[in-house]
Amino acid sequence: MLEIKDLYVNYGNLQIIQGVSMAIKDGEMISLVGSNGAGKTTLLKAISGLKSVNSGSIIFDGVELTKLTAAQIVENGVVQVPEGRKLFPDMTVQENLELGAYLKGPKSKRKDTLEYVYTMLPDLLVKAKQPAGSLSGGQQQMVAIGRGLMTCPKLMIFDEPSIGLSPLLTDIMFDIIAKVKDSGVTIMLVEQNVQNALKLADRGYVLEQGKISMEGMAADLLQNEDLKKAYLGM
Ligand SMILES: Nc1ncnc2c1ncn2[C@@H]1O[C@H](COP(=O)(O)OP(=O)(O)O)[C@@H](O)[C@H]1O
Ligand SMILES: [Mg+2]
Repeated sequence: MLEIKDLYVNYGNLQIIQGVSMAIKDGEMISLVGSNGAGKTTLLKAISGLKSVNSGSIIFDGVELTKLTAAQIVENGVVQVPEGRKLFPDMTVQENLELGAYLKGPKSKRKDTLEYVYTMLPDLLVKAKQPAGSLSGGQQQMVAIGRGLMTCPKLMIFDEPSIGLSPLLTDIMFDIIAKVKDSGVTIMLVEQNVQNALKLADRGYVLEQGKISMEGMAADLLQNEDLKKAYLGM
């Protein structure tokens, strides 16, 4: 279980995250939606240990993450698939995947996990020996997801996985995320694609200017008039 309590994150004098509290239960999928600049990526970076926090706490399975390094957070089972994929373009798809399993625990299971990743993402097996940079945007996003799976995560965090993808590829991407969830991984999905993100999730949170403005069951949020007006153009 992930529990964020009264979190504040600044960039210099700019207060970006302003008192965010949220919780994700084991096996649950939540979507965090909000406009560009709301602070979604900043919040995710704080969870992953890529950005220091000013106050508040982020507790995962009883461990305070704000005191850990990014690598220790991965070791504790929390992995982020970053916005913009961040692959090594000259390395092969398989080499990129194997990089995900650099920590001791996952490394010892690397062969089995790789096999599992190729079952989850069969398109990648065909491309295993190709440089990651030669793949299409959608396929690169799959490599990034595969690399995340290689860490054997308990909680997987996605930062706008559908950005830049065609509607068809977006559907495929959301199907993959649903499959990851079905395999027992807890999911936190950040999206500007509010409709799709909430359709898939159990619960949702709306972030506006660094604060949670709405939260609830995803199905209820999709019916919410304010949300429809602000984010679904209805
Ligand atoms: N490295 C940074 N330095 C200074 N300000 C930043 C930095 N990264 C993001 N910001 C600011 O923080 C705010 C929230 O950005 P971000 O978390 O990326 O929002 P979102 O992911 O919701 O689009 C924006 O106003 C952005 O300009
Ligand atoms: Mg962002």
